[in-house]
Amino acid sequence: MKKKLRSQEWFGKKGKDGFIYRAWMKNQGIPNDEFLGKPVIGICNTWSELTPCNAHFRELAESVKRGIIESGGLPLEFPVMSLGETLIKPTAMLYRNLVSMDVEESIRANPLDGVVLMCGCDKTTPALVMGACSVDIPSIVVSGGAMLTGKYEGRNIGTSDIWRFSESVRSGIMTEEELNLAEAGMCRSRGHCAVMGTASSMACMVEALGLSLPGNAAIPAADSNRKVLAQLTGRRIVEMVKEDLKPSTILTRQAFENAIKVNAAIGGSTNFVIHLLAIAGRVGIPLCMEDFDHLSDNIPLIANLQPSGEYFMEDLYYAGGLPAVMKEIKKILHVDCITSNGKTIEENLIYAKTLNKSVVSSVENPFKKHSGIAVLKGNLCEFGAIIKPSAADPYLMQHTGRAIVFENIEDYKLRIDDPELPVDENSVLVLKNVGPKGYPGMPEVGNMGLPKKLLEKGITDMVRISDGRMSGTGFGTVILHVSPETADNGVIAIVQDGDLIQLDVAKRQLNLLVEKEEIARRRTALAAIPNPFSRGYVRLFVEHVEQAHLGADFDFLKGGSGSEVSRDSH
Ligand code: FES
Ligand code: MG
Repeated sequence: MKKKLRSQEWFGKKGKDGFIYRAWMKNQGIPNDEFLGKPVIGICNTWSELTPCNAHFRELAESVKRGIIESGGLPLEFPVMSLGETLIKPTAMLYRNLVSMDVEESIRANPLDGVVLMCGCDKTTPALVMGACSVDIPSIVVSGGAMLTGKYEGRNIGTSDIWRFSESVRSGIMTEEELNLAEAGMCRSRGHCAVMGTASSMACMVEALGLSLPGNAAIPAADSNRKVLAQLTGRRIVEMVKEDLKPSTILTRQAFENAIKVNAAIGGSTNFVIHLLAIAGRVGIPLCMEDFDHLSDNIPLIANLQPSGEYFMEDLYYAGGLPAVMKEIKKILHVDCITSNGKTIEENLIYAKTLNKSVVSSVENPFKKHSGIAVLKGNLCEFGAIIKPSAADPYLMQHTGRAIVFENIEDYKLRIDDPELPVDENSVLVLKNVGPKGYPGMPEVGNMGLPKKLLEKGITDMVRISDGRMSGTGFGTVILHVSPETADNGVIAIVQDGDLIQLDVAKRQLNLLVEKEEIARRRTALAAIPNPFSRGYVRLFVEHVEQAHLGADFDFLKGGSGSEVSRDSH
Protein backbone atom coordinates (compact mmCIF):
# COMPACT_ATOMS: atom_id res chain seq x y z
CA MET A 1 0.00 0.00 0.00
CA LYS A 2 1.20 3.51 -0.80
CA LYS A 3 2.41 5.32 2.30
CA LYS A 4 0.26 8.27 3.31
CA LEU A 5 2.03 11.55 2.73
CA ARG A 6 3.17 13.30 5.85
CA SER A 7 1.88 16.61 4.49
CA GLN A 8 -1.65 15.20 4.43
CA GLU A 9 -1.58 15.29 8.26
CA TRP A 10 -1.93 19.01 7.64
CA PHE A 11 -3.47 19.67 4.25
CA GLY A 12 -5.64 16.56 4.14
CA LYS A 13 -7.47 17.39 7.35
CA LYS A 14 -11.14 18.24 7.55
CA GLY A 15 -12.77 20.80 9.78
CA LYS A 16 -11.15 23.71 11.58
CA ASP A 17 -7.58 22.43 11.46
CA GLY A 18 -7.57 21.69 7.73
CA PHE A 19 -9.16 25.06 7.08
CA ILE A 20 -6.39 26.83 8.94
CA TYR A 21 -3.58 24.79 7.35
CA ARG A 22 -4.83 25.40 3.81
CA ALA A 23 -6.48 28.78 3.92
CA TRP A 24 -3.43 30.82 4.82
CA MET A 25 -1.32 29.04 2.21
CA LYS A 26 -3.83 30.16 -0.38
CA ASN A 27 -2.85 33.77 0.25
CA GLN A 28 0.18 32.91 -1.91
CA GLY A 29 -2.12 32.14 -4.78
CA ILE A 30 -1.92 28.37 -4.56
CA PRO A 31 -4.92 26.57 -6.12
CA ASN A 32 -6.87 24.05 -4.07
CA ASP A 33 -5.73 20.98 -6.00
CA GLU A 34 -2.14 21.54 -4.94
CA PHE A 35 -3.17 20.37 -1.50
CA LEU A 36 -4.89 17.17 -2.58
CA GLY A 37 -1.99 14.82 -2.10
CA LYS A 38 0.97 16.17 -4.05
CA PRO A 39 4.33 15.55 -2.37
CA VAL A 40 5.24 18.80 -0.60
CA ILE A 41 8.93 19.52 -0.99
CA GLY A 42 10.74 22.01 1.22
CA ILE A 43 13.65 23.91 -0.26
CA CYS A 44 15.85 24.68 2.71
CA ASN A 45 17.69 27.77 1.56
CA THR A 46 20.80 29.28 3.09
CA TRP A 47 20.64 32.27 0.75
CA SER A 48 22.02 35.41 2.32
CA GLU A 49 23.86 38.47 1.09
CA LEU A 50 25.92 38.08 4.25
CA THR A 51 27.04 34.68 2.97
CA PRO A 52 28.65 35.68 -0.32
CA CYS A 53 29.29 32.06 -1.28
CA ASN A 54 25.52 31.40 -1.16
CA ALA A 55 24.29 34.76 -2.47
CA HIS A 56 23.09 33.21 -5.76
CA PHE A 57 20.86 30.64 -4.06
CA ARG A 58 17.52 32.31 -4.63
CA GLU A 59 18.09 32.09 -8.36
CA LEU A 60 19.33 28.51 -8.06
CA ALA A 61 16.25 27.62 -6.01
CA GLU A 62 14.10 28.60 -9.01
CA SER A 63 15.67 25.76 -10.97
CA VAL A 64 15.00 23.36 -8.09
CA LYS A 65 11.37 24.51 -8.03
CA ARG A 66 10.96 23.98 -11.75
CA GLY A 67 12.13 20.39 -11.33
CA ILE A 68 9.80 19.74 -8.40
CA ILE A 69 6.81 21.07 -10.34
CA GLU A 70 7.74 19.01 -13.42
CA SER A 71 7.66 15.90 -11.27
CA GLY A 72 4.31 16.72 -9.75
CA GLY A 73 5.41 18.09 -6.39
CA LEU A 74 4.57 21.32 -4.58
CA PRO A 75 7.76 23.28 -3.78
CA LEU A 76 7.84 25.50 -0.69
CA GLU A 77 11.04 27.40 -0.08
CA PHE A 78 12.03 28.37 3.44
CA PRO A 79 15.03 30.16 4.91
CA VAL A 80 17.29 29.02 7.70
CA MET A 81 20.15 30.87 9.34
CA SER A 82 23.04 31.12 6.92
CA LEU A 83 26.71 30.83 7.80
CA GLY A 84 29.37 32.64 5.82
CA GLU A 85 32.97 31.94 6.71
CA THR A 86 34.28 35.35 5.85
CA LEU A 87 32.08 37.78 7.76
CA ILE A 88 30.81 35.91 10.80
CA LYS A 89 32.71 36.58 14.01
CA PRO A 90 34.11 34.99 16.04
CA THR A 91 33.75 31.93 13.79
CA ALA A 92 30.94 30.41 11.71
CA MET A 93 31.56 27.09 13.44
CA LEU A 94 30.08 28.52 16.63
CA TYR A 95 26.72 28.39 14.87
CA ARG A 96 26.88 25.08 12.96
CA ASN A 97 24.94 23.27 15.68
CA LEU A 98 22.47 26.15 16.00
CA VAL A 99 21.71 25.99 12.28
CA SER A 100 21.36 22.23 12.48
CA MET A 101 18.68 22.78 15.14
CA ASP A 102 16.99 25.43 12.99
CA VAL A 103 16.93 22.99 10.04
CA GLU A 104 15.78 20.01 12.09
CA GLU A 105 12.93 21.84 13.79
CA SER A 106 11.86 23.66 10.61
CA ILE A 107 11.57 20.39 8.70
CA ARG A 108 9.81 18.47 11.43
CA ALA A 109 7.36 21.19 12.39
CA ASN A 110 6.16 21.81 8.84
CA PRO A 111 4.05 19.85 6.34
CA LEU A 112 6.99 18.53 4.32
CA ASP A 113 7.36 15.16 2.62
CA GLY A 114 10.85 15.73 1.34
CA VAL A 115 13.49 18.42 1.40
CA VAL A 116 16.17 19.84 -0.87
CA LEU A 117 19.10 21.19 1.09
CA MET A 118 20.84 24.13 -0.54
CA CYS A 119 24.41 24.09 0.70
CA GLY A 120 27.48 26.15 -0.15
CA CYS A 121 29.87 27.89 2.19
CA ASP A 122 31.66 25.53 4.58
CA LYS A 123 29.33 25.08 7.54
CA THR A 124 26.10 25.30 5.60
CA THR A 125 26.58 21.76 4.31
CA PRO A 126 27.14 19.83 7.56
CA ALA A 127 24.59 21.95 9.43
CA LEU A 128 21.83 21.18 6.92
CA VAL A 129 22.74 17.52 6.59
CA MET A 130 22.90 17.07 10.38
CA GLY A 131 19.50 18.67 10.85
CA ALA A 132 17.88 16.66 8.04
CA CYS A 133 19.35 13.40 9.37
CA SER A 134 17.75 13.96 12.76
CA VAL A 135 14.34 14.12 11.08
CA ASP A 136 14.97 11.49 8.41
CA ILE A 137 12.50 12.32 5.67
CA PRO A 138 13.74 12.01 2.05
CA SER A 139 16.43 14.64 1.61
CA ILE A 140 18.85 15.60 -1.15
CA VAL A 141 21.60 18.19 -1.40
CA VAL A 142 22.23 20.76 -4.11
CA SER A 143 25.55 22.48 -3.66
CA GLY A 144 26.04 26.00 -4.94
CA GLY A 145 29.29 25.27 -6.75
CA ALA A 146 32.71 26.87 -6.58
CA MET A 147 33.78 30.22 -8.00
CA LEU A 148 35.70 30.47 -11.22
CA THR A 149 39.46 30.37 -10.70
CA GLY A 150 40.90 33.67 -9.49
CA LYS A 151 43.46 35.59 -11.56
CA TYR A 152 46.34 37.79 -10.49
CA GLU A 153 49.14 38.98 -12.76
CA GLY A 154 48.38 36.32 -15.31
CA ARG A 155 48.37 33.44 -12.89
CA ASN A 156 45.66 31.41 -11.22
CA ILE A 157 44.89 32.14 -7.61
CA GLY A 158 42.50 30.86 -4.96
CA THR A 159 41.83 31.12 -1.27
CA SER A 160 44.99 29.23 -0.27
CA ASP A 161 47.01 32.11 -1.73
CA ILE A 162 45.65 34.45 0.93
CA TRP A 163 47.88 32.78 3.50
CA ARG A 164 50.86 32.97 1.10
CA PHE A 165 50.14 36.62 0.21
CA SER A 166 49.88 37.71 3.82
CA GLU A 167 53.23 36.04 4.65
CA SER A 168 54.72 37.70 1.55
CA VAL A 169 53.53 41.11 2.68
CA ARG A 170 54.90 40.53 6.19
CA SER A 171 58.27 39.48 4.84
CA GLY A 172 58.36 42.40 2.38
CA ILE A 173 58.19 40.37 -0.87
CA MET A 174 54.78 41.80 -1.76
CA THR A 175 53.51 45.38 -1.48
CA GLU A 176 50.11 46.50 -0.18
CA GLU A 177 49.27 47.69 -3.72
CA GLU A 178 49.96 44.27 -5.14
CA LEU A 179 47.84 42.75 -2.40
CA ASN A 180 44.97 45.02 -3.46
CA LEU A 181 45.29 43.80 -7.05
CA ALA A 182 45.21 40.20 -5.87
CA GLU A 183 42.12 40.97 -3.80
CA ALA A 184 40.39 42.35 -6.89
CA GLY A 185 41.18 39.24 -8.91
CA MET A 186 40.37 36.60 -6.32
CA CYS A 187 36.59 36.22 -6.46
CA ARG A 188 35.59 36.41 -10.12
CA SER A 189 32.13 34.92 -9.91
CA ARG A 190 29.38 33.63 -7.71
CA GLY A 191 30.16 30.52 -5.70
CA HIS A 192 32.30 29.28 -2.86
CA CYS A 193 36.08 29.00 -2.50
CA ALA A 194 37.67 27.64 -5.65
CA VAL A 195 40.20 25.34 -3.98
CA MET A 196 39.67 22.02 -2.23
CA GLY A 197 38.90 23.87 0.99
CA THR A 198 36.13 22.95 3.37
CA ALA A 199 33.23 24.00 1.14
CA SER A 200 34.48 21.89 -1.79
CA SER A 201 35.36 19.04 0.56
CA MET A 202 31.81 19.15 1.92
CA ALA A 203 30.34 19.13 -1.59
CA CYS A 204 32.52 16.09 -2.36
CA MET A 205 31.50 14.54 0.95
CA VAL A 206 27.79 14.67 0.14
CA GLU A 207 28.41 13.28 -3.33
CA ALA A 208 30.54 10.44 -1.97
CA LEU A 209 27.96 9.68 0.72
CA GLY A 210 25.30 9.49 -1.98
CA LEU A 211 23.29 12.45 -0.68
CA SER A 212 23.40 14.39 -3.95
CA LEU A 213 23.12 13.57 -7.63
CA PRO A 214 26.40 12.41 -9.17
CA GLY A 215 28.49 15.29 -10.45
CA ASN A 216 27.15 17.75 -7.87
CA ALA A 217 30.48 18.61 -6.28
CA ALA A 218 32.49 20.12 -9.11
CA ILE A 219 30.20 22.05 -11.44
CA PRO A 220 31.20 25.72 -11.09
CA ALA A 221 28.56 28.04 -9.66
CA ALA A 222 28.66 30.15 -12.82
CA ASP A 223 28.21 27.22 -15.22
CA SER A 224 24.71 26.69 -16.63
CA ASN A 225 25.05 23.03 -15.79
CA ARG A 226 24.76 23.98 -12.13
CA LYS A 227 21.18 25.06 -12.83
CA VAL A 228 20.54 21.91 -14.82
CA LEU A 229 21.71 19.84 -11.86
CA ALA A 230 19.46 21.86 -9.52
CA GLN A 231 16.47 21.22 -11.78
CA LEU A 232 17.22 17.50 -12.02
CA THR A 233 17.54 17.42 -8.23
CA GLY A 234 14.11 18.99 -7.93
CA ARG A 235 12.69 16.31 -10.21
CA ARG A 236 14.42 13.58 -8.28
CA ILE A 237 13.32 14.52 -4.74
CA VAL A 238 9.69 13.96 -5.70
CA GLU A 239 10.57 10.43 -6.80
CA MET A 240 12.54 9.91 -3.59
CA VAL A 241 9.41 10.73 -1.60
CA LYS A 242 7.46 8.12 -3.57
CA GLU A 243 10.22 5.58 -2.95
CA ASP A 244 10.56 6.70 0.70
CA LEU A 245 14.32 6.89 0.18
CA LYS A 246 15.54 8.47 3.40
CA PRO A 247 18.97 9.53 4.71
CA SER A 248 18.97 6.54 7.06
CA THR A 249 18.82 4.21 4.03
CA ILE A 250 21.65 5.96 2.20
CA LEU A 251 23.91 6.66 5.16
CA THR A 252 25.25 3.25 6.05
CA ARG A 253 28.61 2.61 7.64
CA GLN A 254 29.89 1.75 4.13
CA ALA A 255 28.76 5.14 2.82
CA PHE A 256 30.77 6.86 5.55
CA GLU A 257 33.78 4.73 4.68
CA ASN A 258 33.44 5.78 1.04
CA ALA A 259 33.36 9.45 2.05
CA ILE A 260 36.54 9.06 4.10
CA LYS A 261 38.36 7.36 1.22
CA VAL A 262 37.23 9.96 -1.27
CA ASN A 263 38.29 12.77 1.04
CA ALA A 264 41.75 11.21 1.15
CA ALA A 265 41.99 10.89 -2.62
CA ILE A 266 41.09 14.56 -3.11
CA GLY A 267 43.26 15.88 -0.26
CA GLY A 268 40.13 17.23 1.43
CA SER A 269 39.86 19.55 4.38
CA THR A 270 40.73 18.69 7.97
CA ASN A 271 37.33 20.08 8.93
CA PHE A 272 35.86 17.10 7.13
CA VAL A 273 36.74 14.98 10.17
CA ILE A 274 34.73 17.04 12.61
CA HIS A 275 31.71 17.37 10.33
CA LEU A 276 31.53 13.73 9.28
CA LEU A 277 31.77 12.61 12.91
CA ALA A 278 28.88 14.92 13.77
CA ILE A 279 26.75 13.61 10.87
CA ALA A 280 27.48 10.00 11.84
CA GLY A 281 26.36 10.86 15.36
CA ARG A 282 23.00 12.02 14.03
CA VAL A 283 22.32 8.78 12.13
CA GLY A 284 23.74 6.57 14.87
CA ILE A 285 26.55 5.11 12.78
CA PRO A 286 29.60 4.29 14.90
CA LEU A 287 32.56 6.26 13.60
CA CYS A 288 35.70 7.37 15.39
CA MET A 289 38.81 9.41 14.66
CA GLU A 290 40.93 6.31 14.06
CA ASP A 291 38.63 5.32 11.19
CA PHE A 292 39.80 8.38 9.29
CA ASP A 293 43.38 7.26 9.65
CA HIS A 294 43.18 3.58 8.85
CA LEU A 295 40.60 3.97 6.09
CA SER A 296 42.66 6.62 4.32
CA ASP A 297 45.93 4.81 4.87
CA ASN A 298 47.37 3.71 1.52
CA ILE A 299 45.05 5.98 -0.42
CA PRO A 300 47.20 8.21 -2.57
CA LEU A 301 46.41 11.76 -3.63
CA ILE A 302 44.58 11.40 -6.93
CA ALA A 303 43.22 14.92 -7.38
CA ASN A 304 45.85 17.59 -7.92
CA LEU A 305 44.01 20.44 -6.24
CA GLN A 306 45.09 23.24 -3.97
CA PRO A 307 45.95 23.35 -1.12
CA SER A 308 47.57 19.89 -1.44
CA GLY A 309 48.26 20.27 -5.17
CA GLU A 310 48.13 22.80 -7.99
CA TYR A 311 44.70 23.11 -9.59
CA PHE A 312 41.23 24.50 -8.81
CA MET A 313 37.66 23.21 -8.65
CA GLU A 314 36.93 24.51 -12.13
CA ASP A 315 39.74 22.29 -13.42
CA LEU A 316 38.31 19.31 -11.55
CA TYR A 317 35.01 19.83 -13.35
CA TYR A 318 36.67 19.92 -16.77
CA ALA A 319 38.68 16.83 -15.81
CA GLY A 320 35.57 14.75 -15.16
CA GLY A 321 34.49 15.94 -11.71
CA LEU A 322 34.29 13.81 -8.61
CA PRO A 323 32.95 10.79 -10.53
CA ALA A 324 36.32 10.64 -12.33
CA VAL A 325 38.14 10.54 -8.99
CA MET A 326 35.75 7.94 -7.60
CA LYS A 327 36.19 5.79 -10.67
CA GLU A 328 39.97 5.86 -10.20
CA ILE A 329 39.60 4.49 -6.67
CA LYS A 330 36.57 2.34 -7.45
CA LYS A 331 38.32 -0.84 -6.38
CA ILE A 332 38.54 0.35 -2.80
CA LEU A 333 35.03 1.81 -2.55
CA HIS A 334 31.87 0.04 -1.46
CA VAL A 335 30.28 0.35 -4.89
CA ASP A 336 27.01 -1.28 -3.98
CA CYS A 337 26.00 1.61 -1.73
CA ILE A 338 22.70 3.13 -2.81
CA THR A 339 22.66 6.84 -3.62
CA SER A 340 19.96 9.47 -3.84
CA ASN A 341 19.21 8.83 -7.52
CA GLY A 342 18.23 5.30 -6.52
CA LYS A 343 21.27 3.81 -8.24
CA THR A 344 24.40 2.33 -6.75
CA ILE A 345 27.80 3.98 -6.90
CA GLU A 346 28.82 1.30 -9.38
CA GLU A 347 25.97 2.26 -11.71
CA ASN A 348 26.67 5.96 -11.28
CA LEU A 349 30.29 5.48 -12.32
CA ILE A 350 29.63 3.63 -15.57
CA TYR A 351 30.11 6.68 -17.78
CA ALA A 352 32.58 8.51 -15.53
CA LYS A 353 35.98 9.15 -17.03
CA THR A 354 39.09 11.18 -16.48
CA LEU A 355 39.57 13.89 -19.08
CA ASN A 356 42.76 15.48 -17.83
CA LYS A 357 45.46 13.39 -16.23
CA SER A 358 47.26 16.43 -14.81
CA VAL A 359 44.26 17.11 -12.60
CA VAL A 360 42.95 13.62 -11.88
CA SER A 361 45.54 10.90 -11.81
CA SER A 362 45.40 7.21 -10.96
CA VAL A 363 46.14 4.95 -8.01
CA GLU A 364 49.13 3.55 -9.92
CA ASN A 365 50.54 6.96 -10.75
CA PRO A 366 49.35 9.39 -8.06
CA PHE A 367 50.43 12.95 -7.32
CA LYS A 368 51.46 11.99 -3.81
CA LYS A 369 51.76 8.54 -2.35
CA HIS A 370 50.26 9.57 0.95
CA SER A 371 47.22 11.68 1.50
CA GLY A 372 44.34 11.73 3.90
CA ILE A 373 44.31 12.61 7.53
CA ALA A 374 46.72 11.16 10.03
CA VAL A 375 45.37 10.77 13.55
CA LEU A 376 47.97 11.28 16.22
CA LYS A 377 47.91 9.95 19.76
CA GLY A 378 50.24 10.51 22.68
CA ASN A 379 50.33 12.14 26.06
CA LEU A 380 49.75 15.55 24.51
CA CYS A 381 46.49 14.42 22.89
CA GLU A 382 44.99 11.52 24.80
CA PHE A 383 41.86 11.44 22.61
CA GLY A 384 43.67 12.37 19.45
CA ALA A 385 44.76 15.17 17.18
CA ILE A 386 44.98 15.37 13.41
CA ILE A 387 47.41 16.43 10.72
CA LYS A 388 47.05 16.52 6.94
CA PRO A 389 50.39 15.22 5.71
CA SER A 390 49.73 16.06 2.05
CA ALA A 391 49.61 19.77 2.96
CA ALA A 392 52.71 19.66 5.18
CA ASP A 393 56.45 19.71 4.55
CA PRO A 394 57.78 16.13 4.50
CA TYR A 395 60.96 17.01 6.39
CA LEU A 396 58.96 17.97 9.48
CA MET A 397 57.03 14.71 9.69
CA GLN A 398 59.49 13.57 12.31
CA HIS A 399 60.58 16.40 14.51
CA THR A 400 61.49 17.24 18.07
CA GLY A 401 61.61 20.83 19.20
CA ARG A 402 61.14 23.18 22.10
CA ALA A 403 57.75 24.71 22.72
CA ILE A 404 57.00 28.38 22.29
CA VAL A 405 53.67 28.72 24.07
CA PHE A 406 50.92 31.22 23.40
CA GLU A 407 48.15 31.28 25.99
CA ASN A 408 45.54 32.41 23.48
CA ILE A 409 45.26 33.93 20.02
CA GLU A 410 45.63 37.49 21.32
CA ASP A 411 48.87 36.51 23.05
CA TYR A 412 50.09 35.01 19.77
CA LYS A 413 49.24 38.13 17.76
CA LEU A 414 50.96 40.33 20.34
CA ARG A 415 54.25 38.44 20.47
CA ILE A 416 54.79 36.46 17.26
CA ASP A 417 56.79 39.21 15.54
CA ASP A 418 58.64 40.32 18.67
CA PRO A 419 62.35 40.22 17.70
CA GLU A 420 63.11 39.06 21.26
CA LEU A 421 60.92 35.96 20.99
CA PRO A 422 63.35 33.04 21.48
CA VAL A 423 62.10 31.18 18.43
CA ASP A 424 63.95 29.41 15.64
CA GLU A 425 62.91 27.08 12.83
CA ASN A 426 63.17 24.06 15.14
CA SER A 427 60.78 25.48 17.69
CA VAL A 428 57.26 24.12 18.02
CA LEU A 429 54.57 26.79 18.22
CA VAL A 430 51.84 25.84 20.70
CA LEU A 431 48.58 27.77 20.75
CA LYS A 432 46.27 27.14 23.71
CA ASN A 433 42.63 27.98 24.33
CA VAL A 434 41.27 27.79 20.80
CA GLY A 435 39.31 24.54 21.31
CA PRO A 436 35.53 24.06 21.14
CA LYS A 437 34.95 25.48 24.64
CA GLY A 438 38.04 27.64 25.12
CA TYR A 439 37.21 29.84 22.13
CA PRO A 440 33.62 28.82 21.57
CA GLY A 441 33.32 27.45 18.05
CA MET A 442 36.98 26.50 17.68
CA PRO A 443 38.21 29.12 15.22
CA GLU A 444 40.39 28.46 12.18
CA VAL A 445 43.59 29.86 13.65
CA GLY A 446 45.63 26.66 13.95
CA ASN A 447 47.77 27.47 10.91
CA MET A 448 49.52 30.28 12.79
CA GLY A 449 51.62 32.48 10.54
CA LEU A 450 55.36 32.11 11.13
CA PRO A 451 57.42 34.72 13.02
CA LYS A 452 58.52 37.53 10.75
CA LYS A 453 62.18 37.01 11.54
CA LEU A 454 61.98 33.40 10.31
CA LEU A 455 60.02 34.36 7.20
CA GLU A 456 62.80 36.81 6.39
CA LYS A 457 65.27 33.94 6.65
CA GLY A 458 63.22 32.07 4.03
CA ILE A 459 61.61 29.58 6.43
CA THR A 460 58.21 28.50 5.11
CA ASP A 461 57.03 25.79 7.51
CA MET A 462 57.25 24.92 11.19
CA VAL A 463 55.49 22.48 13.51
CA ARG A 464 52.43 24.17 14.97
CA ILE A 465 50.07 22.63 17.51
CA SER A 466 46.71 23.78 18.82
CA ASP A 467 43.31 22.64 20.00
CA GLY A 468 41.75 24.73 17.22
CA ARG A 469 40.99 24.15 13.56
CA MET A 470 42.41 25.54 10.37
CA SER A 471 40.73 26.67 7.21
CA GLY A 472 40.38 23.86 4.70
CA THR A 473 42.35 26.12 2.40
CA GLY A 474 45.27 26.22 4.85
CA PHE A 475 48.46 24.19 4.76
CA GLY A 476 51.67 23.51 6.66
CA THR A 477 52.83 21.13 9.39
CA VAL A 478 49.86 22.00 11.49
CA ILE A 479 48.54 19.72 14.22
CA LEU A 480 44.92 20.46 14.99
CA HIS A 481 41.94 19.45 17.12
CA VAL A 482 44.10 18.42 20.11
CA SER A 483 41.70 16.65 22.47
CA PRO A 484 41.07 17.11 25.34
CA GLU A 485 41.42 20.84 24.80
CA THR A 486 43.04 23.44 27.04
CA ALA A 487 39.70 24.55 28.48
CA ASP A 488 38.99 20.94 29.44
CA ASN A 489 42.32 20.84 31.25
CA GLY A 490 43.91 18.54 28.69
CA VAL A 491 47.68 18.09 28.82
CA ILE A 492 48.07 20.90 26.28
CA ALA A 493 47.04 23.22 29.15
CA ILE A 494 50.27 22.53 31.07
CA VAL A 495 52.79 22.86 28.24
CA GLN A 496 55.39 25.49 29.11
CA ASP A 497 57.95 27.43 27.10
CA GLY A 498 61.01 25.29 26.51
CA ASP A 499 59.31 21.89 26.99
CA LEU A 500 60.38 19.39 24.38
CA ILE A 501 57.66 18.12 22.03
CA GLN A 502 58.12 15.14 19.76
CA LEU A 503 56.15 14.57 16.56
CA ASP A 504 56.38 11.34 14.62
CA VAL A 505 53.73 11.16 11.93
CA ALA A 506 54.81 7.74 10.67
CA LYS A 507 54.30 6.33 14.17
CA ARG A 508 51.22 8.53 14.70
CA GLN A 509 52.72 9.93 17.90
CA LEU A 510 52.63 13.35 19.50
CA ASN A 511 54.27 13.55 22.90
CA LEU A 512 55.31 16.07 25.47
CA LEU A 513 58.74 14.92 26.62
CA VAL A 514 58.18 15.83 30.23
CA GLU A 515 58.32 13.33 33.14
CA LYS A 516 55.01 11.73 34.06
CA GLU A 517 55.26 12.99 37.62
CA GLU A 518 55.90 16.53 36.46
CA ILE A 519 52.89 16.40 34.12
CA ALA A 520 50.73 15.11 36.99
CA ARG A 521 52.07 17.82 39.31
CA ARG A 522 51.31 20.59 36.83
CA ARG A 523 47.85 19.18 36.14
CA THR A 524 46.81 19.06 39.79
CA ALA A 525 47.58 22.77 39.96
CA LEU A 526 44.94 23.45 37.29
CA ALA A 527 41.63 24.77 38.52
CA ALA A 528 38.27 23.89 36.96
CA ILE A 529 37.34 26.52 34.38
CA PRO A 530 33.94 28.15 34.90
CA ASN A 531 31.76 28.95 31.88
CA PRO A 532 32.50 32.63 31.26
CA PHE A 533 29.21 33.11 29.43
CA SER A 534 26.21 33.71 31.65
CA ARG A 535 23.50 33.84 28.99
CA GLY A 536 22.41 33.24 25.47
CA TYR A 537 23.37 30.70 22.83
CA VAL A 538 27.07 30.78 23.61
CA ARG A 539 26.35 29.70 27.20
CA LEU A 540 24.41 26.73 25.87
CA PHE A 541 27.26 26.03 23.46
CA VAL A 542 29.95 25.89 26.14
CA GLU A 543 27.76 23.79 28.41
CA HIS A 544 26.95 21.19 25.78
CA VAL A 545 29.58 21.08 23.06
CA GLU A 546 31.51 17.84 22.84
CA GLN A 547 35.22 17.62 22.19
CA ALA A 548 36.62 17.69 18.67
CA HIS A 549 37.29 13.95 18.51
CA LEU A 550 33.52 13.41 18.85
CA GLY A 551 32.57 15.96 16.20
CA ALA A 552 31.86 19.00 18.42
CA ASP A 553 28.11 18.45 18.25
CA PHE A 554 25.95 19.14 21.30
CA ASP A 555 25.58 16.17 23.62
CA PHE A 556 21.77 16.46 23.47
CA LEU A 557 21.62 16.50 19.67
CA LYS A 558 23.02 13.03 19.09
CA GLY A 559 20.65 10.77 17.16
CA GLY A 560 17.29 11.91 15.82
CA SER A 561 13.72 12.45 16.89
CA GLY A 562 12.06 11.28 13.68
CA SER A 563 9.42 13.10 11.69
CA GLU A 564 6.27 12.43 13.71
CA VAL A 565 4.35 15.37 15.16
CA SER A 566 1.10 14.23 16.71
CA ARG A 567 -0.37 17.46 18.06
CA ASP A 568 -2.10 20.25 16.17
CA SER A 569 -1.49 23.94 16.71
CA HIS A 570 -5.02 25.11 17.47
FE1 FES B 1 32.68 30.41 1.75
FE2 FES B 1 35.36 29.76 1.46
S1 FES B 1 34.45 31.51 2.31
S2 FES B 1 33.61 28.65 0.98
MG1 MG C 1 36.74 27.88 6.31
